[in-house]
Amino acid sequence: MNTNRQWLLAKRPHGMVGAENFEYVETPIPEPGDGEVLVRNLFFSFDPTQRGWMEDRESYLPPVQLGEPMRAGSIGQVAASNHPDYAVGDIVQTTGGWQDFVVVAPSQAVMGLTQVPDGIPPEMMMSVLGVTGLTAYFGLLDLGQPKAGETVLVSGAAGATGSVAGQIARIKGCRVVGIAGGPEKCAWLKNEAGFDEVIDYKNEDVNARIAETCPNKVDVFFDNVGGDILEAALNHINMRARVVLCGGISNYNATEPVPGPANLMNLVIMRARMEGFIVIDYMHRAEEAIGDLLNWIQNEGLIYQVDLQEGFENIPHTLQRLFTGQNLGKQLLKVADPS
Ligand SMILES: NC(=O)c1ccc[n+]([C@@H]2O[C@H](COP(=O)([O-])OP(=O)(O)OC[C@H]3O[C@@H](n4cnc5c(N)ncnc54)[C@H](OP(=O)(O)O)[C@@H]3O)[C@@H](O)[C@H]2O)c1
Repeated sequence: MNTNRQWLLAKRPHGMVGAENFEYVETPIPEPGDGEVLVRNLFFSFDPTQRGWMEDRESYLPPVQLGEPMRAGSIGQVAASNHPDYAVGDIVQTTGGWQDFVVVAPSQAVMGLTQVPDGIPPEMMMSVLGVTGLTAYFGLLDLGQPKAGETVLVSGAAGATGSVAGQIARIKGCRVVGIAGGPEKCAWLKNEAGFDEVIDYKNEDVNARIAETCPNKVDVFFDNVGGDILEAALNHINMRARVVLCGGISNYNATEPVPGPANLMNLVIMRARMEGFIVIDYMHRAEEAIGDLLNWIQNEGLIYQVDLQEGFENIPHTLQRLFTGQNLGKQLLKVADPS
């Protein structure tokens, strides 16, 4: 391979993100400078937050600029190195962007340039042990602070983050109820992931089903979705409940500002707390989370699901799968095998 295939951000989206927002180009393979590393990307991570990075607005990271390769988490292999900590052939995790090759200055990369430990498959490193697993771990445990016997409700429950959050709550001795779209995802949550109850928001009345499935009310709500589902959950919070705002995917493609829940007064009445977080603030504690998650995979039946697509040409379409609910578990795409 002697060209660098790239998908550039060509047009900021208005409404649902689609292939028309990106432009395919081929450029020369870049050369690493002093202290830099050339990485050949093998796997890309697809994350709902990428939709936010496409907007020209202030956020926790700067927006992707028009004409730049679309920012994306990746696992790749070192193809050339001018840095003593990285050797040709190393498998590394970084924010490689939608391109075959990326030059990384390790100290300046958005998420750094970390070695993938031997024996850990990329699919595991990019899901349950990656950003989404860490998001579930810190969001649920640090903000949600679940106690054995409490009821934990999770929205986006069959997804990469929600499925891990719910299973951690189960491992901590909680009663766990998941909200997800469609019978297939709900069956997986109940039969495979060990959720106590499930609510199919596409086919059931969410408000009525939360009342039915959470007879002792909701102590922790881990919310990935926002909108109507957040409002329904707030109707059922317990005294001193913790509402963890992890994300609000139901609104990411909205074309107009979306009103907040009409029942925020329930937080006052129930002396409850609602708090947002961004996982990058917890990256210095990644080792602690990865140690616990690995232990739970080996000893507590923590499972994870990966939806692996293939082909560089399918990258833009794969991002859309997150917003149509087509992904079954962590959305990844493979472009190459390690050499
Ligand atoms: N705070 C942080 O640091 C942080 C870090 C990572 C992720 N997040 C957030 O965590 C959430 C999940 O991310 P993920 O990477 O784990 O993705 P994911 O849950 O694996 O995939 C996204 C899922 O969202 C659901 N969804 C899409 N549109 C929806 C809608 N209009 N209403 C309800 N559900 C909808 C779909 O599931 P259904 O088929 O069930 O609808 C889809 O499969 C996102 O909100 C993301 O922004 C936050």
